[in-house]
Amino acid sequence: MKSSDAFYITTAIAYPNGRPHMGHAYEVVATDAIARFHRLDGRTVTFLTGTDEHGLKLAQAARAAGVDPKTYVDKMVMAFQEMTATFQISHDRFIRTTDADHYAASQALWRAMVAAGDIYLDRYTGWYSVRDEAYYDESELVDAVDAAGVTVRLSPQGTAVEWTVEESWFFRLSTYADRLLAWYDSMPTPVVPSSRHNEMRAFVQRGLRDLSVSRTSFAWGVPVPDAAIDGPAHVMYVWVDALTNYLTGAGYPSASLDTVWPPDLQVVGKDVVRFHAVYWPAILMSAGLALPKAVFGHGFILDRGEKMSKSLGNVVDPLELAATLGVDRLRWFMLRDVVFGEDGNYSHAAIVERTNADLANGIGNLAQRSLAMIAKNCDGRLPSESLAHQPADLMLQSILSSLTERYMDDMRGLRLSRALEALMEMVAIANGYFADNAPWSLKNSDPARMAKILYETADAVRQIAILLQPIVPSAAVRLLGQLGLSVDKTGHRPFTELALALPLGALLPAPNGVFPRWVETT
Ligand code: MSP
Repeated sequence: MKSSDAFYITTAIAYPNGRPHMGHAYEVVATDAIARFHRLDGRTVTFLTGTDEHGLKLAQAARAAGVDPKTYVDKMVMAFQEMTATFQISHDRFIRTTDADHYAASQALWRAMVAAGDIYLDRYTGWYSVRDEAYYDESELVDAVDAAGVTVRLSPQGTAVEWTVEESWFFRLSTYADRLLAWYDSMPTPVVPSSRHNEMRAFVQRGLRDLSVSRTSFAWGVPVPDAAIDGPAHVMYVWVDALTNYLTGAGYPSASLDTVWPPDLQVVGKDVVRFHAVYWPAILMSAGLALPKAVFGHGFILDRGEKMSKSLGNVVDPLELAATLGVDRLRWFMLRDVVFGEDGNYSHAAIVERTNADLANGIGNLAQRSLAMIAKNCDGRLPSESLAHQPADLMLQSILSSLTERYMDDMRGLRLSRALEALMEMVAIANGYFADNAPWSLKNSDPARMAKILYETADAVRQIAILLQPIVPSAAVRLLGQLGLSVDKTGHRPFTELALALPLGALLPAPNGVFPRWVETT
């Protein structure tokens, strides 16, 4: 049985046929912020990310590199693991579809679909895009003129398609249309945001064809189990094995699956919503498994307006950018400036501007001003007695607690950029309180009141630091350290601590800026 506080969250798994780009970094960072939020909120989180290593695209990339596919992916995957480490992704497992338990899970799922009577042998004749690893219907293709002036047919994603004729196993997807439509309309709607829900509904309503789920023209994939003795050897269509990763990561086919399954949230890019909201739930229904509670299709991160992709040549290496600007700035920018669910533009200048404003001038300044005054005027100590509140203090506390509620509500509702807006409102309110109550002017006339104002401001910083943890984890820990608060062995201060005030009389470490301002050197 899955307990009510268990939370299973996944990202899509990336093709390691090139180095990771900002789009990949964006997806893992957004998912990580949600995973960390739920952990701090007291849930038992299982967070899965990884790489999708089979299929024709990877086989071709390995051939071009002159090595066998496994040698190729073993090397390429390292850059993705470096990316998750650099961006402080808190996944519980980095799954590779070449892992042994994943082969076992994929074959078990296949057998379940066979047992349901949903798999039959036929011949596939139609269009296939190697880049998308996707089958397309004739009616979906678009005509385009290539560089040589020749009219060519492209997939709706603008990728090349090739005519493919091959013996293949098929999955009876067409029989699931009504059940999929009923699932889309169940409450709360599982495919989000609503634009993706509408797209998927319309797609299924146009009618579904059975899906070719195996390939015979190459061998780089999970072997189809129990195949006919005399026919060609089949490997699973890469998307069938790729989608199965979510089950492998939850322990399928072992009984322990029950404690994790189903996913509470599957975060994927808008270009792969079809696979996750049509093929995937149909496969799960066939195997008699529970469906994900939510599939969220996020937008693309665009380099000044253009989708980032290897073929467009505008791929920005997130590791290089992190080495220059620092991970906190990148994480903050991606979560604050990109509305989760929509496309967002990114540029070096925009990251610097946003993070200087919010982190350095906003949060950093608030912390620095109040903590420097405590160091200078109170020997670095918080007041040892709690003084009666004045109306301004009560007002500050009440606004901070209602903004905290808004932050919580927006994070739970996946309105990530709005949650960060609430956080910045907390900063503005605390800055306003500090400025209006001018503790520096009370140094001689009323030092006790001065200390009280500094204490209230520092306690506002404490609340802000706790809420910052899912967004900029290491900076939040540094900020908490500035308040003399060490983190527990899991590296966190859970949200239950929001209600505890700073310890009276505590000696604070010497203030040390946590969010330096970025100054261009050129
Ligand atoms: N391997 C498949 C997913 C299989 S999931 C069972 C795949 N891989 S991918 O490397 O092309 O993309 C991985 C994820 O990154 C996808 O969710 C995709 O939408 C996302 N992004 C790829 N480019 C992106 C941007 N430019 N911006 C944001 N996300 C993007 O698809």
